[in-house]
Amino acid sequence: MREPGRGFGVFHEPVLLKEVLDLLAPRPGKVIVDATVGTGGHAEALLSLGATVVGIDQDPESLGVAAERLRDFGERFRPVRANFRRLREVLNELGLEKVDGILFDLGLSSWHLAHPERGFSFQEEGPLDMRMDPENPVTAADLVNSLPEREIAHILREYGEERYAARIAWEIVRNRPIRTTKELASLVARCYPPGRHRIHPATRTFQALRIAVNDELSALREALPQAVEALRPGGVLCVIAFHSLEDRIVKRFLREGARSGRLRLLTKKPVRPKAEEVARNPRARSARLRAAQVPQLPSP
Ligand SMILES: C[S@@+](CC[C@H](N)C(=O)[O-])C[C@H]1O[C@@H](n2cnc3c(N)ncnc32)[C@H](O)[C@@H]1O
Repeated sequence: MREPGRGFGVFHEPVLLKEVLDLLAPRPGKVIVDATVGTGGHAEALLSLGATVVGIDQDPESLGVAAERLRDFGERFRPVRANFRRLREVLNELGLEKVDGILFDLGLSSWHLAHPERGFSFQEEGPLDMRMDPENPVTAADLVNSLPEREIAHILREYGEERYAARIAWEIVRNRPIRTTKELASLVARCYPPGRHRIHPATRTFQALRIAVNDELSALREALPQAVEALRPGGVLCVIAFHSLEDRIVKRFLREGARSGRLRLLTKKPVRPKAEEVARNPRARSARLRAAQVPQLPSP
């Protein structure tokens, strides 16, 4: 663990904060689960408005920063180190049967990108790690250095929607072992046709490997039904996704919930950040927020 306090300058700026607060309507007496608390940006705002917040994160470093930052809220902030795929178990351990709101703000935080030793950033030199939970036994280096070429291509295609997946996998296998982020980033760049690209050529490869290492899509699929189950009538689920694979899972899940009458959609279309927010925080650019409510019980 690094010393407490380090990294306070790189707090992740919470995305779509006003929109999330309008939907979750925090106030004293409400219990809200922030299932991806990170360094605590959304949580701080929820707590400041009086709610009690259960803050879950699988990354102990981020969680440690959040706990330190939110210490003044005392017992109202309850940090829990866990994967959100264990949401029901976490709530049982805290003796909470139902809660008033649940937020998922998926993916990486700026904290991860600002710490090159975690291996998430292709802009900085670091080990090819990419684990959000350091106890996860598999790193990105393990995947690129041991999987067969066709499986690497599959990961890049499925989780990165990478059109040059086959070419990149071919290069990877012929240049193994690959140990660092920059080694991989420059190998990927060589697989792209020369010229200017809208995003860095390594963006999709890094996204794909990170999703595979952290098993992100399965965790989301497992957590969403548990979240709906944990909401009391009138409770609200908010999910912020950053790429189309996540957003598709959320969209289908919420639509199905609405069709079966278990949910009422609060966002017909995904809410996107306004231009001012994107100008201030470019990471918000691809954010899409969807929300739904468990219907209120009819009055007797
Ligand atoms: C986008 S950041 C959250 C930022 C936070 N909302 C804020 O305002 O500071 C996402 C966080 O979710 C965590 N995370 C991602 N997948 C997770 C999972 N399956 N279980 C628990 N935490 C997860 C990551 O470690 C990261 O800290």
